[in-house]
Amino acid sequence: MSNKRSAPIIAGLDIGSSKVTVVIGQITDDSKLEVVGLGTAPNVGIRQGVVVNIEATTEAIRKAREEAELMSGYRIEEVLVAVSGSHIKSFDSKGMVAIKNKEVNHQDVERVIEAAKAVAVPNDRVVLHVIPREFKVDGQDGILDPIGMSGIRLEASVHIVTGSSTAISNNLKCIEKAGMKSAGLVLEQLASSLAVLSEDEKTLGVCVVDMGAGSCHLIYYIHGSVAHTSVVPVGGAHFTHDIAIGLRTPQIAAEALKVKYGSAMATLVNDQETIEVEGVGGRKARTLKRMDLAEVIEPRAEETLQMLYADLRNSKIMHQLGSGVVLTGGASQLEGLVEMGEFMLDLPVRRGVPGQVGGLSEVVKSSAYSAAVGLLLFGLKEKKFTKANSAKEEMIAESINSFGSKVKNFFEGLF
Ligand SMILES: Nc1ncnc2c1ncn2[C@@H]1O[C@H](COP(=O)(O)OP(=O)(O)OP(=O)(O)O)[C@@H](O)[C@H]1O
Ligand SMILES: [Mg+2]
Repeated sequence: MSNKRSAPIIAGLDIGSSKVTVVIGQITDDSKLEVVGLGTAPNVGIRQGVVVNIEATTEAIRKAREEAELMSGYRIEEVLVAVSGSHIKSFDSKGMVAIKNKEVNHQDVERVIEAAKAVAVPNDRVVLHVIPREFKVDGQDGILDPIGMSGIRLEASVHIVTGSSTAISNNLKCIEKAGMKSAGLVLEQLASSLAVLSEDEKTLGVCVVDMGAGSCHLIYYIHGSVAHTSVVPVGGAHFTHDIAIGLRTPQIAAEALKVKYGSAMATLVNDQETIEVEGVGGRKARTLKRMDLAEVIEPRAEETLQMLYADLRNSKIMHQLGSGVVLTGGASQLEGLVEMGEFMLDLPVRRGVPGQVGGLSEVVKSSAYSAAVGLLLFGLKEKKFTKANSAKEEMIAESINSFGSKVKNFFEGLF
């Protein structure tokens, strides 16, 4: 591990519909990322990525922050924030500029991206990302890095991701009320993809589906760059709701049954196995077959995968997904979902967990933390470091200050 006092740090905040996560990373001397703190708190203040209760969300952010700070020994003030939800819209755009000195340099690339960005974005939307897809130099296409190439005309195809200003300003309001500032906004599924994909998968073509509580967030990569993003409005909470109705049990019990015994495919379940199901409104618990639970979950899993298949078809790039689909996010942990996915999506499917990090990697090794860990990897790539604020040092400084002022007050009181 690097020396705590001098190491730059990055913090990420994922405000999900089921939980808020704060993760803190430290950059080592050889520019690697080490996770040093994680905090989570349940949240009921978000629906489909949009804040519906400012107080509840602020409180959840505060709790998650405190936990992560305690674990890491750092105090954080700035966080990279994951943004998602039905308000996100993305589209493609193109730009063209003349190459100034007949050889493409950084300024030419910046100018052509600016030109592609100059499309009319309505006032009520904020641009989150302008992601270059490919460049053309004098009509020659398929160029990923044009710097140093000779030519007269430089063109860029970019993918622009925008979000609703109102939805985003409500997120920022909660973060500020919790005593922090945003260091930048990152599309949730973009962050998740950084945590779970290999470079080979991006080159071969792949779709990452971050399956959250409220919705599935998708990002498509073709030839190594982002080609498309979308949202499918179904997630883990719909499964829990079905179980609560189907087995007549409270939501909390339904959630616990899903996580512990749930399966997307009834055929994977031993038909002799039984489970205890809590009754509603003080009714007695019943013993049911685990198969009954799977039979409630299976149609919802099928419907979810059908909706994902429709999104893959609509993207018109499904045939270019050589590496298939990577399922991540908390809801992807349902047993049997990957197997059913392979069958229903007709593509190779695997589950993605965050890799490529050191430190407390075992603590964050869950699909539910892909977006949070991805925020740190985004910060590392974009060099969004903040000053290391050792909480211990600050606390000592605070107590010295307060001791100092007490002494001052004492002497002032004497004269
Ligand atoms: N082992 C498991 N099996 C099935 N589902 C699970 C499991 N663990 C967690 N989930 C489900 O995952 C969902 C939460 O996922 P996640 O933490 O990624 O959501 P979120 O980020 O809060 O939501 P969103 O991204 O939609 O805003 C919940 O619906 C939860 O029930
Ligand atoms: Mg999420």
